[in-house]
Amino acid sequence: MTTLIDLPGYLAAEQTSDTEVKAVIGVIAEACVQISRVVASGAILGNLGAAGQKNVQDEEQKKLDIITNDMLREALKACQPVAGLASEELDEIETTGRSGGFLVTFDPLDGSSNIDVNVSVGTIFSVLPAPAGREPTEADFLLPGRRQVAAGYAVYGPQTMLVLTLSKGVAAFTLSADGAWLLTHEALAVPADTSEFAINMSNQRHWAEPVRRYIDGCLKGKDGPRGKNFNMRWVASMVADVHRIMMRGGIFMYPWDAREPDKPGKLRLLYEANPMSLIVERAGGKATDGQTAILDLQPTKLHQRVPVVLGSANEVDQVVAG
Ligand code: AHG
Ligand code: MN
Ligand code: MN
Repeated sequence: MTTLIDLPGYLAAEQTSDTEVKAVIGVIAEACVQISRVVASGAILGNLGAAGQKNVQDEEQKKLDIITNDMLREALKACQPVAGLASEELDEIETTGRSGGFLVTFDPLDGSSNIDVNVSVGTIFSVLPAPAGREPTEADFLLPGRRQVAAGYAVYGPQTMLVLTLSKGVAAFTLSADGAWLLTHEALAVPADTSEFAINMSNQRHWAEPVRRYIDGCLKGKDGPRGKNFNMRWVASMVADVHRIMMRGGIFMYPWDAREPDKPGKLRLLYEANPMSLIVERAGGKATDGQTAILDLQPTKLHQRVPVVLGSANEVDQVVAG
């Protein structure tokens, strides 16, 4: 067996990111190891089920949403280069009393509906530059995704994996039995073509016309306008659905729908769409809200939602072309 490089070794060899970004990544990666253990212990620790309260987005929180949020929050507050943080599970930003360095946004546990049924969940994070010389405010978090200095996710599945982008490229690490992140996939590349789509089909009747047309074309298969058969997958954990696309291509969509017409979609820009879009683009894929590249959107609110279409480049182009 060849010896695999571990995360500290990978970060040390990475030339273009500064040491402080690497320190932040190291802290998040370690928190994800701890989170993987809490998630894996499930009912043994009495951590499954609802917490009996809602988050700022009016979503029922699971016990594990709160536990994992606190784990990341404590780890980041103790991390010297972090000046502020924002999370799906926190109404407002939190500052650390420090200035300069970085801001971190995160979804501590993505795929809440899957926790109690033992299907893959994950953690998503984004690292942004913090303003120098003063404590950050909420406005400082509202940076377009292109300004991210790093992004990543951990997926707690049959294997626990960490997928990272720093200054360029995307690397994936697998958690070993003794708790080390080992580099198992270098330079991930999303193939430009695919015949696999991921969308929650139960919302079909609520979609806008262009999305319906696109999916109709896929469903008609070989005999339809696309001239080939498509396969469908929907895990209902964005992390797991995007991870599949990172590994073998595909297209993922959570479009606007008419159930809540005032909301632009379900997924959140700052800690779901932006980090995932950076990872997908760095691997050669594309990510759009239907018109604009997700990474070019100017955020206006901390918990802003956005329609998301991402994955294999030629397929994303098909959707955009309408
Ligand atoms: P979260 O559990 O962090 O709130 O995110 C869940 C998101 C995303 O992971 C997934 O793609 C989507 O919700 C699934 O939504 P549906 O249950 O509507 O399919
Ligand atoms: Mn999520
Ligand atoms: Mn979540």
